Amino acid sequence: MCGIVGILGNEAVAGPLVEALRRLEYRGYDSAGIATVENGSLDRRRAEGKLVKLENCLSEAPLVGHTGIGHTRWATHGAPNEINAHPHVSGDVSVVHNGIIENFRELREDLEKSGMEFSTQTDTEVIAHLIARTLKGGATPEEAVEQSLSKLEGAFALAIIFAGHDDLMIAARKGSPLAIGYGDGEMYVGSDAIALAPFTDTITYLDDGDWAVLKRDGAVIRDRAGRQVERAKVKSVASALMVDKGNHRHFMAKEIHEQPEVLSHTLAHYLDFSEGRVDRSRFDLDLGAIERITISACGTAYYAGLVGKYWLERWARIPVEIDIASEMRYREAPMEKGGMALFVSQSGETADTLATLRYCKEEGQHIASIVNVRESSIARESASVLPTLAGPEIGVASTKAFTCQLAVIACLAIAIGRARGHISEETENELVMALAKVPGHISTILRDESIFEKISHDLSHARDVLYLGRGVSYPIALEGALKLKEISYIHAEGYAAGELKHGPIALIDEDVPIIVVAPDDDLFEKTLSNIQEVVARGGRVTVLTDHDPDRIGADAENIISLPTVHPFATPLVYAVPVQLLAYHTAVFMGTDVDQPRNLAKSVTVE
Ligand code: F6R
Repeated sequence: MCGIVGILGNEAVAGPLVEALRRLEYRGYDSAGIATVENGSLDRRRAEGKLVKLENCLSEAPLVGHTGIGHTRWATHGAPNEINAHPHVSGDVSVVHNGIIENFRELREDLEKSGMEFSTQTDTEVIAHLIARTLKGGATPEEAVEQSLSKLEGAFALAIIFAGHDDLMIAARKGSPLAIGYGDGEMYVGSDAIALAPFTDTITYLDDGDWAVLKRDGAVIRDRAGRQVERAKVKSVASALMVDKGNHRHFMAKEIHEQPEVLSHTLAHYLDFSEGRVDRSRFDLDLGAIERITISACGTAYYAGLVGKYWLERWARIPVEIDIASEMRYREAPMEKGGMALFVSQSGETADTLATLRYCKEEGQHIASIVNVRESSIARESASVLPTLAGPEIGVASTKAFTCQLAVIACLAIAIGRARGHISEETENELVMALAKVPGHISTILRDESIFEKISHDLSHARDVLYLGRGVSYPIALEGALKLKEISYIHAEGYAAGELKHGPIALIDEDVPIIVVAPDDDLFEKTLSNIQEVVARGGRVTVLTDHDPDRIGADAENIISLPTVHPFATPLVYAVPVQLLAYHTAVFMGTDVDQPRNLAKSVTVE
């Protein structure tokens, strides 16, 4: 999703702006640009494609201004080309924007009637024209921005600079995230603290509706009603975070391999291994009082929630409803008071998830969230925050964040089950020990990837791939299919294995590889019957299992033998082989593994 930076510096800011944009690359983008105030005038450079193209433009025609804004654009309105790339300029105003202006058509018509000429297809250009028109009418920059903001509907994070004003930048947020950074006689604006980490660790996160006037000596922040407000300055840990690939070819590979370590951290946060117990104090929840749970999330995080439904219902005996956030936010579902609404999000900024959270808050639910970015909007708007300790996830395809989400939900299920009296002390001990073994099992799988490379080579020639699973393995099948399609662009679908004969079995022939997630749990025999149904129709099956391979025998083309795992913990372990299959297939296909086309890491628009 679009990334924003702004710097009021003491020397040329073009280089630092590009450096900050590089740290936002992980969000996904298709063009980039920067603008600076130079000798009182605005000048900009923009380029379609990756940042290296913008850097080439800058080395041919440098920008030397000390005040500037930068942007990585993930196209929403208008093609991803140089003309539509930000910053946009109108008269003395230059603006970068993340979000969507919903009433841009009406605003555009009105602006065109008053003689403003549009040169792009973007919604953002209306913001530049609105402010420029108000400035021309005699307003100060602050007045022009305030009046213009009141006309904008939708979501935005903005950074704005003005010709003739070297010591001024205005930032604003509604919906989309934005942080202000404090330096030594310098000020910064960024979509997140990671972007600002090279310059400062002193950060203020703007609240929804805030706008701020920045000068080199500080910022004055106002809320949506125009009242001057104080917002806390926090020390961000983002500066300490390593954002490099280590010895790996891609961030995704690095993040897959980090899983034993980050899962150990996450599990150790919630579990007392020596006692074989869940540390209930970590949950900041009245665990025994929860009567029903509604889970909502998007994409991979939704699949983590779906595994959670199986676990919470089976082990904690608590009713769970789950829906994808983009549906739930508009469904107007009645919710009984006294329930808990649980949101799962790596970024903590996903627009649909945040909107659903607000809906559930209005419906009187206790809001809890599982997030990887503790300073995110979703975390800040939750009554209870259950962090994943995955560290920054840079690859667009979620891997370690997913397994850490599963780890937290597994611990929560045990904690609630215990508090409700459905899990005995002995069972708690058994389940905790099962989780404790997960990092070791994953290390074993990661020791030798040759089988995954071999099967991925075959998958890379497929047009369609099916993933099957039952029970807790069904969401892992869905996740395997999502992972494959998003980074290799091969069409893939996940199905509940028992649902196959109700339609999808028609797809099966020798050209469609089928990956079956089949741990040795109480549903294994049922899944085996489905494998036989597929093989009988010429299907080429790869089975992921810890069952005796001889039992599956010649029915499967490939059997990937995995470590023996307690049935409770299988989703955490089986997530890794499906990640590896997707990763190696994408490597064979030569796609942009870390930044697949059309995708964004942090989806801050709906
Ligand atoms: C897929 C993926 C996405 C995200 C989804 C939600 O690999 O990463 O499906 O899971 O966009 O994002 P978060 O977790 O940030 O709310």
